[in-house]
Amino acid sequence: MTDATDQLVRTPPTLEDYLHLRAASGLTPKTAVQGEGALAGSWCWSVVRHEERAVAMGRVIGDGGWYFHIADMATLPEHQGRGLGRRVLTDLLAQIEEVAPDGPYVTLMADAPGRPLYASTGFVETAPTSLGMRLER
Ligand SMILES: CC(C)(COP(=O)(O)OP(=O)(O)OC[C@H]1O[C@@H](n2cnc3c(N)ncnc32)[C@H](O)[C@@H]1OP(=O)(O)O)[C@@H](O)C(=O)NCCC(=O)NCCS
Repeated sequence: MTDATDQLVRTPPTLEDYLHLRAASGLTPKTAVQGEGALAGSWCWSVVRHEERAVAMGRVIGDGGWYFHIADMATLPEHQGRGLGRRVLTDLLAQIEEVAPDGPYVTLMADAPGRPLYASTGFVETAPTSLGMRLER
C-alpha cells in the first residue's frame, strides 16, 4: 500500500531519477541526451516521490488536442506491487480528462508487466484494426 511519505507530483523527475527508474525497472536504458528530450518535451507527467527520490513515474506525449500516448510507466522494483503504478496511470488519465477536448485517443505500448494494470484501467488491444509498429533499422 502507499504510505504518507509517497507524494504524487505532476512535475518531471530529475534526469538522474528518470534514467535510473528506466534502467532499474528493466526498461531499455537511455542516454542523458535522450532523457533531456523526454523531460522537456512531454505533455504531462505523474511522478511518485518517496524520501525526495522518484520511485514511480509515467508521462504523456501528446498534442493537447486529441492524440495522447502514455510512456515510461515504471516503478522501482522495491516499490512495485504497492499501488504506485495504478496511482500514476490514474493521474495521467485524470490530467487528460481535465484538459483535453472531449474524445481523446489514448494509446500505449503494453509490455507484459503492465498489461494487467492497463486492462483493468480500461485499455483494450487495438488489433486487428491497428497493429503497433516501430521503425527498425
Ligand atoms: C508495470 C509497472 C509500472 C506497474 O507498477 P506497480 O507500481 O507495481 O503497479 P501497482 O502496484 O499499482 O499494480 C498495478 C497492477 O499490476 C498488477 N501487479 C502488480 N504487481 C504484480 C505482481 N507481483 N504480480 C502480478 N501482477 C501484479 C496487478 O494487476 C495490479 O493491480 P491491483 O491493483 O488490482 O493489484 C511495474 O511493474 C514496472 O515498473 N514494471 C517494469 C517496467 C515495465 O515493464 N513497465 C511497463 C512498460 S509498458
